[in-house]
Amino acid sequence: MALNLLNLSILFVLLNIINPFPFAGPRTLEASTTPFSKTLQNLRGVHRGQNAKGVGELRGYLQKYGYLTKGSSSNDNFDENVESALKHYQAFHHLRDTGVVDDDTIKKMSLPRCGMPDIITNPNPNPNGLVGAPENYTFFPGSPKWSKFFLTYRRTSGATVSINETAVRRAMRDAFQSWANVSPFTFNETTDRSADITYGFHRGLHLDLYPFDGPGKGASPCFCAGRWEDSL
Ligand SMILES: *[C@@H]1O[C@H](CO)[C@@H](O)[C@H](O)[C@H]1NC(C)=O
Ligand SMILES: *[C@@H]1O[C@H](CO)[C@@H](O)[C@H](O)[C@H]1NC(C)=O
Ligand SMILES: *[C@@H]1O[C@H](CO)[C@@H](O)[C@H](O)[C@H]1NC(C)=O
Repeated sequence: MALNLLNLSILFVLLNIINPFPFAGPRTLEASTTPFSKTLQNLRGVHRGQNAKGVGELRGYLQKYGYLTKGSSSNDNFDENVESALKHYQAFHHLRDTGVVDDDTIKKMSLPRCGMPDIITNPNPNPNGLVGAPENYTFFPGSPKWSKFFLTYRRTSGATVSINETAVRRAMRDAFQSWANVSPFTFNETTDRSADITYGFHRGLHLDLYPFDGPGKGASPCFCAGRWEDSL
């Protein structure tokens, strides 16, 4: 993405009012070349019963996103827990649930993604057996909506970044335009503090308990508790 030039900082958008959109439309994301995506390449074809360097990292990924119990082993054995978690991951992401680190899985796991777990269950995120693929979207409690179709947005700064301001503003304008193209909403940039939507650059621990974890890793978590965040 154009904004990959950001180093430690991540752009995120904060809506002052709960976002009425249940789900963002499809957008093209480029696979990253992070150490984890390289690990995945080396794990191609790996399945239950094998021991391979990098399975521990895969366990970490599956754990982070809710498919394996927190604190579970980080060894390199591709055991039945890893297989079951991987199948669950595949089903969740509408892939064939082969339980094998196949091409589609590698592709999916290499994409930038939201930092929130897919499965939020306590204490055991990986019950025996698979659950069906979930709904593609849900509404926030009470199905809140915007009460208007013209929304304003503005930039707020959380961290200092040396970045081309013109390029950022253009990227934001284009992003809002994509929403405007497929919805009744229109968006204008403003410097007014009463803007409906704010965006900015932040690093590490910011406005919630989920610190940004660095370039190429999980992006900003999305919340619906009175506000909504997304990262680009
Ligand atoms: C979610 O979207 C995918 C891809 O468009 C589709 O195949 C699947 O049936 C949808 N799932 C539900 C529960 O609607
Ligand atoms: C900043 O970005 C704009 C738009 O992409 C570009 O036209 C301009 O040359 C860039 N400026 C610098 C100093 O890189
Ligand atoms: C939105 O911005 C455009 C272009 O700057 C301007 O012409 C228009 O009046 C603005 N709309 C509102 C409702 O402020």
